[in-house]
Amino acid sequence: MKEQVLELLPEIKEIRDEKLREKVIECWAEGIACRNWTNDELSSIPFTLLADNVQIYFIEHVRTCCRMAIACDKVLDEAYGKRKTPVNRDYLIAGSLLADVGKLLEFDKSPDGTVFKSDYGKHIRHPFSGVGLAYKHGLPSEVMHVIAVHSKEGAGEKRSPEAIIFHHVDFIDFELVK
Ligand SMILES: [Fe+2]
Repeated sequence: MKEQVLELLPEIKEIRDEKLREKVIECWAEGIACRNWTNDELSSIPFTLLADNVQIYFIEHVRTCCRMAIACDKVLDEAYGKRKTPVNRDYLIAGSLLADVGKLLEFDKSPDGTVFKSDYGKHIRHPFSGVGLAYKHGLPSEVMHVIAVHSKEGAGEKRSPEAIIFHHVDFIDFELVK
């Protein structure tokens, strides 16, 4: 399972702290196991069910947002150096990779492969199930915060620097396709 997760999300290797890396893998492994998702399915389901005709797929979206977040952090570093608002890069990457892990529970599939919102997902949208998974696997509160406030549920909350970066890159991807 660990290999399946790393194959799906090679960006996990960008996390420098080994324990944090393992916890991110555990969350994804549990999410995948809950509905027996295969990598092929995860690579071919639309990243959101909130828009029609989405041509961007779930895993592509997770990876792209993570890479955009890393790139933003790098540009800010290069531009402002010591004057930059501090960002914990590991927390930024872990939060980016886990923000949508709850979709593994929010979505379900019918026998013909169609993906739909599960009853569970109607009650608990993915930021909540994502925080639940992260809590269970001992992720730090800074990472749970990124998951919790990345979406519309976080509007009006004071976001950390990591959460600000992730929220914006996520909405770039979302608003360009919706
Ligand atoms: Fe999300």
